[in-house]
Amino acid sequence: MGFRQLILTALAVAFPVGIVFIVLVTTGQLGLGTALLSFALSGLGVVAMLRIYFGDLRRVARYATDLRDHYKGAPPQHISFTAASELSSLYTQIAAAFRDRIALLEAQTSTDAEILDHLPNPVVMVNRQRVVTGFNQAAKGLFHSLETGRDLTRFIRDPILLDAFDDVANERQTMKHAEFVLASDAHRHFDVLTARLPAATGDRNFVLTFSDLTELRKLEQMRADFATDAGHELRTPLSVLLGFIETLEGPAKDDPDALNQFLPVMRDQALRMQHLIEDLLSLARIELNEHTPPSDECNVGKIIDKVAKSLAIKADAKDMNIRVTRELEDTDMIGEEKELHQVFVNLVENAIKYGHPNTDVEVSITLAKNLPGALARYRHNRFMAIAIRDHSDGIAREHLPRLTERFYRVDTARSRAVGGTGLGLAIVKHLVQRHRGTMQIESEQGVGSVFTVYLPAKIGDNVRKLHSA
Ligand SMILES: Nc1ncnc2c1ncn2[C@@H]1O[C@H](COP(=O)(O)OP(=O)(O)OP(=O)(O)O)[C@@H](O)[C@H]1O
Ligand SMILES: [Mg+2]
Repeated sequence: MGFRQLILTALAVAFPVGIVFIVLVTTGQLGLGTALLSFALSGLGVVAMLRIYFGDLRRVARYATDLRDHYKGAPPQHISFTAASELSSLYTQIAAAFRDRIALLEAQTSTDAEILDHLPNPVVMVNRQRVVTGFNQAAKGLFHSLETGRDLTRFIRDPILLDAFDDVANERQTMKHAEFVLASDAHRHFDVLTARLPAATGDRNFVLTFSDLTELRKLEQMRADFATDAGHELRTPLSVLLGFIETLEGPAKDDPDALNQFLPVMRDQALRMQHLIEDLLSLARIELNEHTPPSDECNVGKIIDKVAKSLAIKADAKDMNIRVTRELEDTDMIGEEKELHQVFVNLVENAIKYGHPNTDVEVSITLAKNLPGALARYRHNRFMAIAIRDHSDGIAREHLPRLTERFYRVDTARSRAVGGTGLGLAIVKHLVQRHRGTMQIESEQGVGSVFTVYLPAKIGDNVRKLHSA
């Protein structure tokens, strides 16, 4: 408020008083000198009051400016006029309400950012110019060089994905899915959903959400491979059988020698198919109930004894012995006897099949001392270790991780010759997993192999805890 304005306001306020003085002087009730002096004095009084009033207003205005610029400030002291001090405290209240609201918004924004960071799916925000304006931790994990302020194409060059983005950006669609493969990262498959955020103000107009499809695609591939492998395995004995049937119907018709010669081979091939189909069916059945833990009680020691007995003849045919040693007395556990029987039949059968003639198959039952990594989370529980050791050529290191894959055979011809389908260890793996256990394979070339099955021992409520985990 300038000086001129102050004087003008003072004059405006003093004007009615001036009129009164003029009337008093013209009617002779007051001398001119007295009137002028009185008018001047009352004018001075008005100016003084206005100065104080304007001073109050100026300080309140300064306070309001501070609040506007910094959301905080010191309210003016010594305000003389109530109206001005009320105005000042009103500003204080408005500023406090704003601060609360801002704090709430800030908290909400940082919570939203935290929620985004906790999402397992990578999320990237982009503006209309296709510039990255935000992303979460998962996205940073996927695209290590991701930065805000850069064009999206610096990080993603896949044309299908960029086309999907353009479709959404050009408002042809509000959202669009596109599948893309991240070649740099072991060929991970992603479904990317690009969505427009119509209500978004600011620069986060589009959001790209990545869902990892790698496992799904792998499973689909495995299923397709499995069907192909199974078909392939069945085709071989079937074509051998058909070949013999054709020969017996044609050139070798009514030839009893040929019949006698072919029939055992035909039986072998038919048995092979039967074996394969049984294995396939039991694998399918096991996979169905793999996630429901067993509830029956059984005794591993007794199961091993039965297995050893039932395979004694097979071992004897190769001048082999099955030697069982038991360091652990109490071998009770929660498990399905039939399934565990199959586990150990498959393992001991392999040891006989692939072991050298005239050697022993050694089976030992002990209390596990060092649990393999797969059981790390159960380290406070007691596990039995059932090891099946053979003396054979051993298995080269590179094959070990793949032995439990379906149809995987180290030496396909040799395994087929001994009647193997390559499903035995796959079945073992699933059955052991259903029993919350694991299998470890060690082998030394020229010496032999040890297949160790770890199974939870039934001690106290050890097993109940395990099975409910
Ligand atoms: N004790 C072992 N010694 C050496 N190689 C083995 C042993 N056990 C398994 N293998 C190898 O692992 C492969 C897979 O074993 P698996 O038991 O799954 O199949 P298989 O014995 O060929 O057939 P199946 O058990 O279905 O009749 C075998 O073909 C063999 O090459
Ligand atoms: Mg086998």
